[in-house]
Amino acid sequence: MPARDTFDTWFDAIIERRYYTNHGPLVSRLDRAIAERLDVKHAVSVTNGTVALMVALVALELSGDVIVPAFTFPATVQALHWAGLTPVFADVDSRTHMLTAESVAKVKTDRTSAVLGVHVWGRACAPAELEAYCRQNDLRLLYDACHAFGCSFDGKMIGNFGDAEVFSFHATKIVNAAEGGCITTNDDDLAARLITARNFHRSPKDQSVYVRLNGKMSEAQAAMALMALSQFEEFVDRNEAIYSTYERGLEGTSGIKAIRYDRRNRNNFQYAVFEIEPESSLSRDQILDVLRAENIYARRYFFPSVHRLSPYCDALDGEKRELPVTTSLCQTVLQLPLGAQINPEDAELIAALLDLILENGDEIKARAEATAGANSLRSGW
Ligand SMILES: Cc1ncc(COP(=O)(O)O)c(C=O)c1O
Repeated sequence: MPARDTFDTWFDAIIERRYYTNHGPLVSRLDRAIAERLDVKHAVSVTNGTVALMVALVALELSGDVIVPAFTFPATVQALHWAGLTPVFADVDSRTHMLTAESVAKVKTDRTSAVLGVHVWGRACAPAELEAYCRQNDLRLLYDACHAFGCSFDGKMIGNFGDAEVFSFHATKIVNAAEGGCITTNDDDLAARLITARNFHRSPKDQSVYVRLNGKMSEAQAAMALMALSQFEEFVDRNEAIYSTYERGLEGTSGIKAIRYDRRNRNNFQYAVFEIEPESSLSRDQILDVLRAENIYARRYFFPSVHRLSPYCDALDGEKRELPVTTSLCQTVLQLPLGAQINPEDAELIAALLDLILENGDEIKARAEATAGANSLRSGW
């Protein structure tokens, strides 16, 4: 959250203008600020990241099947559903946690109209490979970039890849608009359709789109996003300091591996993601239990994977349900606390505790088993 006096200044101005929604001056200013920051031609702000996905899918005029990972936040797949499209799950790469052209090729059929890639943890999802594959196979490429605001790949800002990219400004994201999102593209016609699709009213400049909805961002949301943008570098520096503390603190610990940032790219350091390795005597969930008993709220993320969620688990046949890498990541990925609520000193203590837990895994397990039922730890030990 911004400082209280900054917040008051921005919100007082909205009240004085009496302009609360319907493409107000702050939304226009935000669209320009995002386009400039991401070095992209068009940014179209909307209500949230899920609506951004829905609007983008409708404006891309897709039909049939869309290839998507199941190792993602449910909204990526739910938006396909709302746009009348059928999700087809492809497995992800065990190193990057993301789709590859190879995994996409395995599930592509004649019904496939597009690929919806996800830039998981702020790292780019194989843009060069997937752009080439989609071009060769006449598919559209949309990216869910909700984790990747302010990140780059190979000298180009995320926001410029595929046909369009989608961002979230949810409170859990580095730009917090108290709900918000946007779509970016370098395609003028697509931008005009996006602007039409996000608004239920007709206007003289309308482009033809199949269906519209109310996806407008309010002035209050735009003010929040603009305030967050003005502190963006500060947030990145803080995140980086926390992430680096974890990375350093756990460098020599066996049984845990950091999903590292490539320092040649710009990163927002929004996530501190680790994987529990097979040599650990404790499972990821057992480690989470111990951390929680110490009041540390680390998370499993993404869990469960979307192909295990209704209605997708019911709609798929047994063969397609097998996504071995996705299934394994859902059991091994551990996300450590990061963001405004904690500082590097907290991260140092958390890393030291994790090191202690992993170094003493056998003994912790034995003691927990011996006291099972007498302590508050979840079952599964
Ligand atoms: C990868 C991903 N996609 C989509 C969304 C949905 O965004 P929103 O919450 O703004 O609707 C989120 C997070 O909230 C996300 O992490």
